[in-house]
Amino acid sequence: MKNLIIGANWKSNKTKNEAKEWLDRFYNFSPREGLEVIVFPPFTLLDYVSSVIRVNDLPLKVGAQNLSSGVNGLSLTGEVALEQIGEFSDYVLLGHSERRKYLNEDENQISMKVEKVIDLEAQGKKIEPILCVSSVQGVNSLTKQGMIIAYEPLEAIGTGNPASPQDVAKIVSEIKGIVRGARVLYGGSVKPENVVDYLSTDIDGFLIGGASLDPDEFINILKNV
Ligand code: PGA
Repeated sequence: MKNLIIGANWKSNKTKNEAKEWLDRFYNFSPREGLEVIVFPPFTLLDYVSSVIRVNDLPLKVGAQNLSSGVNGLSLTGEVALEQIGEFSDYVLLGHSERRKYLNEDENQISMKVEKVIDLEAQGKKIEPILCVSSVQGVNSLTKQGMIIAYEPLEAIGTGNPASPQDVAKIVSEIKGIVRGARVLYGGSVKPENVVDYLSTDIDGFLIGGASLDPDEFINILKNV
């Protein structure tokens, strides 16, 4: 069976009570060996979710959905810095297409964020970045060897129209041809019913939005892979 990374991207969803209900479902469910399951809660829940996971030894990792680019070393109102994220997270999503499209995040900002993560690593502390791209072109200068890259075509995100396994297979192999040692995830309308279709490709996992919000639906995805 394949080793896979499966991310639950909650986006701007869930209160603390809702997060508790979701996590409660993992007291009686363990993903099979070889699955790395990462929850990406909003910043307000990073502390809570990571404490519940740690205290109860749940089979989950935690990631943040974004980090401050810290333009010119400034502290920025409303932003959250890498050091703060690092107290609670092992992973961080960078350049999600919703941030690019609706919040005008550009390549320059994303590359500053990638640099921050690389600098932190040079200091011996590691947070694994997951760079989100909607095309092969998005990979270019932002990537580093061995990086995790989430391929999420715009027309597939939140639409119920997932990319075909053939298209995903093609893009995954192109990305792997550009970035040595990359692990590539697919995201975009992945559901329990369609997740198996991608397993014959060279995919390394999935980033799941809508279908990760209901714990039973998400667990069904974990059971099906
Ligand atoms: P979706 O979102 O599964 O709801 O399409 C995926 C994502 O945006 O990461």
